[in-house]
Amino acid sequence: MEYCKVIIQRNIGLFLFSLFLLLSVILVLQTLYSSNSFNITFSQFEYDHEEEACDLFVGKWIRDFREPIYNNRTCPTLPIVKNCVKHGKDPDYIYWRWKPDGCDLPRFAPSMFLNIVRGKKLAFIGDSLARNQMESLLCLLSQVESPLNTNISTEGKYQTWYFPSHDFTLMVMWTQFLVQATQRTVNGTASDVFDIHLDKINSEWTNQLPGINFAVISTGNWFIRKTYLHKDDKLLGCTLCSDAKDLGYVFAIKNALSTTLEFLLSRCKDCEGMMTVLRTYTPSHFEHGSWFSGGNCNRTQPLSESEVMSFNKNAWRIKESQVEVFEKIVQRVEREEKMKKEKKKLVLLDVSKAMMYRADAHPDSHWQRWHNVNDCLHWCLPGPVDLWNELLMVILRKHSRN
Ligand SMILES: *[C@@H]1O[C@H](CO)[C@@H](O)[C@H](O)[C@H]1NC(C)=O
Ligand SMILES: *[C@@H]1O[C@H](CO)[C@@H](O)[C@H](O)[C@H]1NC(C)=O
Ligand SMILES: *[C@@H]1O[C@H](CO)[C@@H](O)[C@H](O)[C@H]1NC(C)=O
Ligand SMILES: *[C@@H]1O[C@H](CO)[C@@H](O)[C@H](O)[C@H]1NC(C)=O
Repeated sequence: MEYCKVIIQRNIGLFLFSLFLLLSVILVLQTLYSSNSFNITFSQFEYDHEEEACDLFVGKWIRDFREPIYNNRTCPTLPIVKNCVKHGKDPDYIYWRWKPDGCDLPRFAPSMFLNIVRGKKLAFIGDSLARNQMESLLCLLSQVESPLNTNISTEGKYQTWYFPSHDFTLMVMWTQFLVQATQRTVNGTASDVFDIHLDKINSEWTNQLPGINFAVISTGNWFIRKTYLHKDDKLLGCTLCSDAKDLGYVFAIKNALSTTLEFLLSRCKDCEGMMTVLRTYTPSHFEHGSWFSGGNCNRTQPLSESEVMSFNKNAWRIKESQVEVFEKIVQRVEREEKMKKEKKKLVLLDVSKAMMYRADAHPDSHWQRWHNVNDCLHWCLPGPVDLWNELLMVILRKHSRN
């Protein structure tokens, strides 16, 4: 005490500074030693506070030079065709973070995610972009627990992964259109043309639904080709065609999605208590050509605000039509009391705008599947596709608290 008094008298400034240092050290130590749950509760509070005013899907990419949660050495399941930096892509594309306009998005926390989904089953249902999201989630979660691969079908179209200490099952179900479709055969060989039955759900994946708690649905890119569209077994028209009425692929996507969401929320008998998440469309970013005509995507920065809309107007139209279908079904389902009894839920995961910026984050030529064909559709890992799971974590956390 004597010593302190002397210091106060002689140099009050120095004393206050020392006190500040001491308090800082205590605070840091407290943070380091406090339990994980303390931190989680705190960040939840902060997030809740801002949540009302904040649309997580509207924002911009800003620089963030922190290392990603995983990399190609710490993720054993990272697919070779998404390991872009190994194949010479400049890692600069990794160092960006999505910043929603009204708030900050919490960083993905693998332990928190696993605790939220403890004892649950989550399935990504859609095309290879649904698989891309699963691959990202596997990498993120494997930082905490190594998953066991319990079932993998030919070409990995259906996969099941299991996290034993959290009793969490992660699945992917591959379906190009969600609804029934058959590939046309021309002169004995498979063509690139499909007959799509817009009103008939594809039971290959719906048969796998029993026991699923969270179904993340997505679709879109497979519709952008020549197709013939059917309803009630009658030909309605076609897309990218000239020999029937061209109804456009936005029409096709919209109707197939509507059939799917109707099924999941109204007709599915095995979907008690299941939550459906609609992950919206993401576009490819080919320039100087397309998939098979030498197109590439060699940008080194996200598109600017002025470029992003002109670059991919069609992607925006598809996304808008998906949100329209989503809203229509939510409204109808909310009107029906039935919904509440069955405890079904539909939530939007709108990643379209965020991904429309990221022309710089595809494998491009930095993969090794086919020579002279660049991949400007899928997303490198790690990369902005990890954002989809960051947003999914927020959605699931909110759901688990209600
Ligand atoms: C990981 O990426 C680095 C470049 O950052 C590359 O040199 C290395 O070969 C890659 N390693 C593996 C195991 O993929
Ligand atoms: C593996 O998955 C397929 C398709 O989902 C299913 O038919 C099969 O029964 C599964 N096998 C095992 C061993 O679980
Ligand atoms: C199918 O084969 C027939 C007879 O060889 C030929 O005339 C026709 O052009 C072929 N059709 C297509 C689409 O290749
Ligand atoms: C990107 O690709 C185009 C077309 O191949 C080429 O003309 C351009 O120089 C490339 N840009 C960069 C930065 O490599």
